[in-house]
Amino acid sequence: MHLPDIIIAIDGYSSTGKSSFAKIIAKEFSFLYLDSGALYRGVTLFAIENGLIADDDTINVPELEKGLENLDLRFSTEGTCIGDRCIENEIRSLAVAGKVSPIATVPEVRNYVDKKLREFGQKKRIVMDGRDIGTTVFPDAELKIFMTADPLIRAQRRADEMQAKGMEADLQDVLKNLQERDYIDSHRETSPLTQAPDAVVLDNSHMSMGDQMEWIKGIISERFGC
Ligand code: DC
Repeated sequence: MHLPDIIIAIDGYSSTGKSSFAKIIAKEFSFLYLDSGALYRGVTLFAIENGLIADDDTINVPELEKGLENLDLRFSTEGTCIGDRCIENEIRSLAVAGKVSPIATVPEVRNYVDKKLREFGQKKRIVMDGRDIGTTVFPDAELKIFMTADPLIRAQRRADEMQAKGMEADLQDVLKNLQERDYIDSHRETSPLTQAPDAVVLDNSHMSMGDQMEWIKGIISERFGC
């Protein structure tokens, strides 16, 4: 199966397995995989470490905006980095997960991240996952997928993932964090999480990765004749 030069946008709720699915699609079709959430998490880590977000989630937006001017957040072969510092583990912690949704509501943060993401889209042949990829970042993406799954199944997946990395994960805490993020992500003013009208919905509550690959290959062959 050889795909033409397209952009595949994968949006959906937290812990629906977007990144695992996107990575496998990228590998299968020799596309580049990009995790847009990692950049929001990177900005959040920067805000936490610089005291720009309070316990009650109040954000010092003017200072954060100033900080973004010199923030060298990027992807490297090691993962997400700030300059030469790899932050891949820190950005997956519950501390960052608990603050990332409020940070992602800030329009200045969204502009900063969008600009970086669009640079990657110029050459096409990418799979990008997030919340607003098919609606705001790449509204002309040739293939848009909107992923969803039962919240408890999603929480269990995230808790397993964290425990596998040696992090503490209480299922109820993870579920609460996930539901709060779903709410904030879907109700924010700028680029809320919403299904693009031309996106195909994938509810993978009871699907294996093999099932999901079969599903997407069917769509690809129907749409692109390959
Ligand atoms: O995909 P993730 O769980 O790593 O995303 C972390 C947070 O980043 C998520 O709660 C909302 C935000 N996000 C966003 O607002 N827009 C995106 N395109 C990607 C992530």
